Amino acid sequence: MNSGTFRIWRGDANTGEFRDYTTEVSEGMVVLDAVHRIQATQANDLACRWNCKAGKCGSCSAEINGLPRLMCMTRLNELPLEKPVTIEPMKAFPPVKDLVTDVSWNFHVKKKIRKFKPRAPDAPDGTWRMAQSDIDRVQEFRKCIECYLCQDVCHVLRDHHKHDEFIGPRFLIYAAALEMHPLDTEDRLLELKQAHGIGYCNITKCCTKVCPESITITDNAIIPLKERVVDEHYDPLGWLWKLARKALKKN
Ligand code: SF4
Ligand code: SF4
Ligand code: FES
Repeated sequence: MNSGTFRIWRGDANTGEFRDYTTEVSEGMVVLDAVHRIQATQANDLACRWNCKAGKCGSCSAEINGLPRLMCMTRLNELPLEKPVTIEPMKAFPPVKDLVTDVSWNFHVKKKIRKFKPRAPDAPDGTWRMAQSDIDRVQEFRKCIECYLCQDVCHVLRDHHKHDEFIGPRFLIYAAALEMHPLDTEDRLLELKQAHGIGYCNITKCCTKVCPESITITDNAIIPLKERVVDEHYDPLGWLWKLARKALKKN
């Protein structure tokens, strides 16, 4: 059996430091296994959040060698074990203890987005008719496990701390899933432009690169949403067309 050294952030909301722990590593281990082994043998008070160990609950998000990743899906044989593996909490959210951050801001943001509002049923039995292609389009966005790694990597939140003005990539895909839903009748475009700060996104695609569910966040969600916002709230020809339509309806 080999060994590896893990440089883990230990601290609370105010202060902290990296500490090195050397532990045995064996074939098939992931970073979360190493953290658990260190917890069991050397640091019983080491705080980390996890639930499924299968990449599905979104709890074990951290920064491993500087990259936002799920600890349970990062295999040790992918990492250079000849040097210490750094493990630290996500930087875009307030630290609580060790690897645990307070991600509650995300839940408050979600509540601010207008809910699904379906049109009236298409048939007397209360059912709807939808094209499969329309369903397929939003299905990708529903794979999100709310790990918030995309929020963590986004420079608007991470470096510029625009948490009050920008909802972040996770909630832009949430809004896209609603806006592009074939039954939805709600209009979220003005809020996306104003309160939700979609203009802050400069399409760097960093969020897409870290998503463990491989959701094409930027190309499939954010860019189409930006186009809709521009069409609706900036495009002068669009405005003229809407005014003309309103006038025609009145006459
Ligand atoms: S593409 Fe936009 S939302 Fe994604 S990380 Fe870059 S700025 Fe943030
Ligand atoms: S979009 Fe991807 S990275 Fe972002 S919260 Fe969802 S699963 Fe995580
Ligand atoms: S423990 Fe559930 S995603 Fe890692």
